[in-house]
Amino acid sequence: MKIGVIGLGYIGSVTAAVLADQGHQVTGIDVDSNKVKIYSSGEIPIFEPGLKNLIVKNRERISFSTSYDTIRESDVIFIAVPTPTSNGSIDLSFVEQAVDSILEVNKNSIIVMKSTVIPGTARSIGKKKGIHIVSNPEFTSEGTAIQDTVKPDRIIIGGSKKQACNVVTDLWEFTGSPIVVTTNENAELIKYASNSFLATKISFINEIANLCEVIPGSDVDIVAKGMGLDKRIGKRFLRAGIGYGGSCFPKDTQAFMDFARSKGTPIKIVEAASEVNDNRISHAIDLVLKSVNSARSQDNKIAILGLSFKDNTDDVRESQSLKLIKELVKLGFQIFAYDPVVKTSISGVKQCASIEECVSLANTVVVATEWDKFRDIVSLVKEKKVVDVRRILDPGEFPIFFAVGFGNAEN
Ligand code: UDX
Repeated sequence: MKIGVIGLGYIGSVTAAVLADQGHQVTGIDVDSNKVKIYSSGEIPIFEPGLKNLIVKNRERISFSTSYDTIRESDVIFIAVPTPTSNGSIDLSFVEQAVDSILEVNKNSIIVMKSTVIPGTARSIGKKKGIHIVSNPEFTSEGTAIQDTVKPDRIIIGGSKKQACNVVTDLWEFTGSPIVVTTNENAELIKYASNSFLATKISFINEIANLCEVIPGSDVDIVAKGMGLDKRIGKRFLRAGIGYGGSCFPKDTQAFMDFARSKGTPIKIVEAASEVNDNRISHAIDLVLKSVNSARSQDNKIAILGLSFKDNTDDVRESQSLKLIKELVKLGFQIFAYDPVVKTSISGVKQCASIEECVSLANTVVVATEWDKFRDIVSLVKEKKVVDVRRILDPGEFPIFFAVGFGNAEN
């Protein structure tokens, strides 16, 4: 098929590459000419494992452009543009612009909404513009986006036109994943309810972590392991830490809460999860201060390992690590930072070229992102105080150790 993808962010670019790999002729559109230029040259402007290879491998079937003219002939067009939150509510202007631009050049394609939109959006935009929109929310995590797209746990397709839904169903059949075909509203709700549930699961374990910290002898990692073995609970998204960040959970929970409130049925549990998450930074600062003030003399030099919002990505949107750094700078600490892929200039922070350099310059070392390579720092930080706000280190290995959810005597 001829496929168009509007928006070349983490989702759009991966969708385009995966569908090209399935033999479709794909055109990716973005308003950012620089991004288009990079993709067209066989490079990628983001860090996403496997994406570059997939695009290069399929270069005969995939092209990139800023012009909607190139999707004049497309049979199916995916919309994967951002839906930011502004003043707590979802901003649909990019989605509406995309629909208008598609309709200027192509009135016959099947339009598929990948962007996350509040329930009722696909139907109401469709009604306003006189079209039918198929909802096909994504459940793709950055860092594992390709495997999540090729082999997702499920595919959700929403719409009221059977034929259009069938075409989209056929497109994803190759995944072999269960496919649920339903209404637009259910599809939109499934996306928000899933992300909000996962965010709540993280906040739940973070609350248990707080409790563990005041119970000497307890450790949230073990508690989570014990809980997660219960198949009804499951072990994933039970990792306590500095709270969730990224481009989805904070934004989607906010939009969902706002939407539910506007309907007169606030979702209290998500409101609580969000509040718990907001408090994670001050909690991490408390741990850093405990470390700084513990043993030996006070110190004011802190090494921060990890800047991205999670491992295996260069994305710093809503990064809890960056929020932590900004607060520590305000408190007057000298910060040295290292990240395997993120290069960013934060005022008051010296970015280091290696873990070794970063660690050597500070007295307290904070593990702020769960990159795998930070698991092997034992020999580097022997003489240092260690604060693990991601729970990737073994508490027994470090003489002075503070961590989320670790009830050591010194805490
Ligand atoms: C998320 C959803 O997982 C995905 O289905 C959706 O389509 C987009 O949003 P993503 O934002 O890429 O994906 O990252 P994810 O792996 O879900 O992590 C989100 C945040 O939660 C990160 O900051 C991560 O570090 C944190 N997290 C995750 C925890 O603190 N503990 C956990 O156990 C899991």
